[in-house]
Amino acid sequence: MRPLRLLLLPLPLLLVLLLPLTAAYEVPPALAELYANLTSSKSRCASYVSNQNNLDDGHGFSGFGFCLDVPGALYLRGPRAQLGDMDVDCDGSSNCEGKSKDYQSGTAFDDVLAGQNYGIASLDAEVHPYVVLGTCSADVAKVVKPLSVVAVVCNRKLHYAVWGDTNGCDDDNFTGEASLALARLCFPDEGVSGDNGHTPHDVLYLAFTDEAAVPGPTGAKWKAANASEFEESLKILGDRMVNETVKRAQEAGVAASMHAELWRTGLMVVFAVLAGDWYL
Ligand SMILES: *[C@@H]1O[C@H](CO)[C@@H](O)[C@H](O)[C@H]1NC(C)=O
Ligand SMILES: *[C@@H]1O[C@H](CO)[C@@H](O)[C@H](O)[C@H]1NC(C)=O
Ligand SMILES: *[C@@H]1O[C@H](CO)[C@@H](O)[C@H](O)[C@H]1NC(C)=O
Ligand SMILES: *[C@@H]1O[C@H](CO)[C@@H](O)[C@H](O)[C@H]1NC(C)=O
Repeated sequence: MRPLRLLLLPLPLLLVLLLPLTAAYEVPPALAELYANLTSSKSRCASYVSNQNNLDDGHGFSGFGFCLDVPGALYLRGPRAQLGDMDVDCDGSSNCEGKSKDYQSGTAFDDVLAGQNYGIASLDAEVHPYVVLGTCSADVAKVVKPLSVVAVVCNRKLHYAVWGDTNGCDDDNFTGEASLALARLCFPDEGVSGDNGHTPHDVLYLAFTDEAAVPGPTGAKWKAANASEFEESLKILGDRMVNETVKRAQEAGVAASMHAELWRTGLMVVFAVLAGDWYL
């Protein structure tokens, strides 16, 4: 009887009921504007973590770094206004069905997880959407707190993850990596796995410098059964951080092109002169 009743529901309601299966959030307009600004050909970055802007993506492309130009935030940026790629990390309490050739049984902040009673010994790359930020020569921990929420714009959608791992000195100079859980949420149709990531440099990893970005042991479902459940538990905090950051970016006119400003000022002067002439 129940399936039949479901079929009798009006179509929009049926769609709403099915919606939670495709977990992905819409990119709010102001964040879309920030993404467009950061990837516009006029965009530059003036300041990088540890002054390091020649890191590698792990596939032979260099010129990457963790840009500090968005007030209160940090993001991975490549040369010519590119962003990061997404290699798949399998570190932590599961090894992506044994697929990763470069596997470590722990993640960088296991000491925090244990010391502050998060209730889990390590992150699980198949359950926790996490991103890998920082290398041996780019010390992200100077500006972002471990296990804080990170907003990720991938595949034209918004996802929430935590900063869960770093590239140690053995993989120094590599950028653009995330857990299998996040890669699957971002790119459900790309067959991502421990040995197959997303190579285009179009992923925005936006981390926040405010301590408030740390959900802490009770602020997220660290024992979630799956990635969607964990991500959903980060959403309220993530939305708040994104809202505050895009507001500050708008106020600061982040990546607003100097040329565009000059153009506008120039045009206004010309108009003022023309208008003045008109009245003379
Ligand atoms: C990272 O690797 C690239 C290319 O292999 C190299 O040009 C660059 O100097 C390296 N950067 C660091 C910080 O070692
Ligand atoms: C994730 O786990 C939750 C809670 O157990 C469950 O309600 C939900 O259906 C699961 N989602 C997926 C995509 O497996
Ligand atoms: C973020 O801003 C949007 C509109 O810009 C608003 O609808 C939403 O409620 C805000 N969310 C939070 C958590 O502040
Ligand atoms: C994007 O750039 C425009 C000007 O080029 C600026 O007015 C706007 O505030 C910027 N928005 C964000 C979110 O950085």
